[in-house]
Amino acid sequence: MGSPTAAPGLQLRAIPPSFVFLAFMGKSKLSEKQRATLLRAARSAMKNAYAPYSHFRVGSALLTTTGKVFSGCNVENASYGMTNCAERTAIFSAVAQLGPKVEIRAIAVTNDQGVPCSPCGACRQVIYEFGPDALVYFQGKDGDQEAHITQLLPEGFRLQ
Ligand code: THU
Repeated sequence: MGSPTAAPGLQLRAIPPSFVFLAFMGKSKLSEKQRATLLRAARSAMKNAYAPYSHFRVGSALLTTTGKVFSGCNVENASYGMTNCAERTAIFSAVAQLGPKVEIRAIAVTNDQGVPCSPCGACRQVIYEFGPDALVYFQGKDGDQEAHITQLLPEGFRLQ
């Protein structure tokens, strides 16, 4: 079998899969300005990280569907399992301020070591709870990446 055929002139393979996925989901991307605002807020929050054990400082910022921005950092603990990731700190802060109806439109994560860092499994489930349609910005192995939460967490768990 050869590769999929396309109408002459249509370069299907030139279109990034994430773009096709987002277009399929009917999601509009953030503007460049919105994305820059989120990344700036995430980097700023990263400075407050409490990471004496891993020395890996992480910052996160989210944009709600109503246009508000909330940020958070990782907060570690001597009992390592009690650690709270930056993404969950940002989400819990948004819920604390806005209440349970908060909806995440997009969330970004940054780290101080310039290494790939996508949200951990636990954070993906929490992002999904408040943003089943959320866009996620993170550093992947090939640089900055954008994904729909259901690409990172297929079949996320829901009770309602
Ligand atoms: N961490 C985050 O805050 N977010 C992530 O997406 C990955 C990991 C934190 C948890 C811990 O404080 C440190 O990074 C090392 O795992």
